[in-house]
Amino acid sequence: MIYGDRIRLRHVERDDLPQFVEWLNDPRVTRGLSIHIPLSMDEEESWYEQMLKSPNEERPLCIEAKQEDGWRLIGNSGFFSIDWRCRSGEFGIFIGDTAIWDQGYGTEVVRLILQHGFCTLNLHRIFLRVFADNLRAIRVYEKVGFIHEGRQRQAEYHDGQFCDVIFMSMLRPEWDEQEEE
Ligand SMILES: CC(C)(COP(=O)(O)OP(=O)(O)OC[C@H]1O[C@@H](n2cnc3c(N)ncnc32)[C@H](O)[C@@H]1OP(=O)(O)O)[C@@H](O)C(=O)NCCC(=O)NCCS
Repeated sequence: MIYGDRIRLRHVERDDLPQFVEWLNDPRVTRGLSIHIPLSMDEEESWYEQMLKSPNEERPLCIEAKQEDGWRLIGNSGFFSIDWRCRSGEFGIFIGDTAIWDQGYGTEVVRLILQHGFCTLNLHRIFLRVFADNLRAIRVYEKVGFIHEGRQRQAEYHDGQFCDVIFMSMLRPEWDEQEEE
């Protein structure tokens, strides 16, 4: 278990899958992700079986928020495509419960994932891709200190329009500098 102030990250259980399927069929959530086709429970179960075969550092983690009566699942986040030679990894996040957007949870999760990536996995570079029209996510990444490093022009297509894909990253020395402040 990885603990933050209001959240914790834990491994995914089979029982979490129905909740993921519900969220990953919500267009407000999938608009920011590369999911364009409705997702079935069977597909999610296949994803789960594959996920269990992946290296454990690359398995997504469930995000849970502290409630008065315990912990509640709100989304997932984690690393993928880790290059151990270059110590570089990409991360992704979604908070499926849209009712709690804009309450600081996303920011807290990203900070916790960075701490895990740099201080536990010993990564040197953590990067992400975000659609240029995903202003909420971009705001979170900028707040946390990610640097804009590039843009793939019109690399995404949704809502009848092409959209740029932005690359952002943070290096370990930049994280250390922030932590010292
Ligand atoms: C992106 C996501 C993780 C953010 O989570 P969150 O809990 O809402 O994030 P936070 O509350 O920490 O921060 C949101 C910030 O965006 C701001 N914001 C909201 N709408 C905005 C907009 N249209 N333009 C600019 N900023 C906006 C909020 O005001 C807040 O900033 P503030 O703290 O300075 O006021 C969540 O919305 C999500 O899961 N979206 C769907 C999946 C997705 O897009 N994942 C990211 C893929 S790259």
